[in-house]
Amino acid sequence: MSHSLLLLPGDGIGTEIMVEVEKIIAWTNGEGLTDFSTDHGLVGGAAFDKHQVAVTEEDVEKAKAADAVIFGAVGGPKWDDVPYEHRPEAALLRLRKELGVFANLRPAICYPALAEASSLKRELIEGLDILIVRELTGGVYFGEPKQITDLGNGQKRAVDTQVYETYEIDRIARVAFDLARTRSGKVHSADKKNVMKSGVLWDEVVRSVARDYPDVEFHHILADNAAMQLVRNPKQFDVMVTDNLFGDILSDAAAMLTGSLGMLPSASLGAPDPVTGKRKAFYEPVHGSAPDIAGKGIANPIAMIASFAMALRYSFGLVELAGKVEAAIAAVLGDGLRTADIGESNRKTIGTEEMGAAILSKLKV
Ligand code: NAD
Ligand code: IPM
Ligand code: MN
Repeated sequence: MSHSLLLLPGDGIGTEIMVEVEKIIAWTNGEGLTDFSTDHGLVGGAAFDKHQVAVTEEDVEKAKAADAVIFGAVGGPKWDDVPYEHRPEAALLRLRKELGVFANLRPAICYPALAEASSLKRELIEGLDILIVRELTGGVYFGEPKQITDLGNGQKRAVDTQVYETYEIDRIARVAFDLARTRSGKVHSADKKNVMKSGVLWDEVVRSVARDYPDVEFHHILADNAAMQLVRNPKQFDVMVTDNLFGDILSDAAAMLTGSLGMLPSASLGAPDPVTGKRKAFYEPVHGSAPDIAGKGIANPIAMIASFAMALRYSFGLVELAGKVEAAIAAVLGDGLRTADIGESNRKTIGTEEMGAAILSKLKV
């Protein structure tokens, strides 16, 4: 059966890394391993330049209709001065919210070949396999009021509002505990219940969900301590569930453990449709548009390709093919191939296109 993918490359390196995924799609379709129809849309600065908005209504509708959305990255200094509501990042936030993809899975895995590439010592990260489960459609990203008020005396007041309701915490916690059951069976929940009311509710709800999963080991951790523990002894973690903002920050920290931010994929999933059981799904690398290296052809496409592998697994049940893509990535790294962002000295590096081609050629064998 044919499945539709909406490809939204975005800005900066987003367009460069998406090309490498398109080559993989062309191959899997050609081999009859998949039957994807692909459509493209503009998001972020690219959409703003053409339509003066960060994403058009038409592309939002296309995203809602697609079986899965594959997203590159948005943003860049070119759009620093555009009105706040049209800034490139607004496209991403709107799409996440409108698709209702509340569960953002951010796996941080240390590929064996990259044990020396992490900023931490080999023994601390060898075999690392953490899954950050970030709440994605609530919290301070979306809470109202969100505004800057002119106080009229030369002063302004800026307000962002952290809001969580029981159901939002309950559903993300269940995703985390369900996933923990398929892994090593341990969940840490990170919040700031010592300071924030939303943290108090977060902890109360996660603890009550934990009671439904007596087979899963549950730990509470304060988010600041979680940041410290991630760099002190990351292998103590298996699944970490946390809110939108803490999840954003903690996942960038986790990314670096793996050798580069350019390695970390993500899947964002909605609630299953009551009739079809299908979930809305959005796949994107954790990193941004990397304006500092955009246009140079040196971006690491691995996070993007691994995000596509997550789409194969979570949206299309192509678990074996997803595993093959991930194995191809591991094999290429095993051969010593590296893009420049991967933190190892004294190694010759290759560009985006060469890395994409190397992964594809491993897939072909
Ligand atoms: P960034 O993730 O774009 O870059 C941080 C650093 O990591 C840079 O030095 C960059 O060169 C490097 N890097 C990131 N991905 C890489 C890759 N695949 N290969 C090689 N190196 C890579 O974060 P930033 O610089 O803070 O943000 C730049 C812009 O991207 C901002 O406008 C920000 O809002 C946006 N952003 C977008 C997303 C997204 O679209 N999902 C995510 C994060 C940031
Ligand atoms: C991410 C990004 C986004 C976020 C930005 C670009 C809106 O940093 O996906 O991690 O903060 O969620
Ligand atoms: Mn981020």
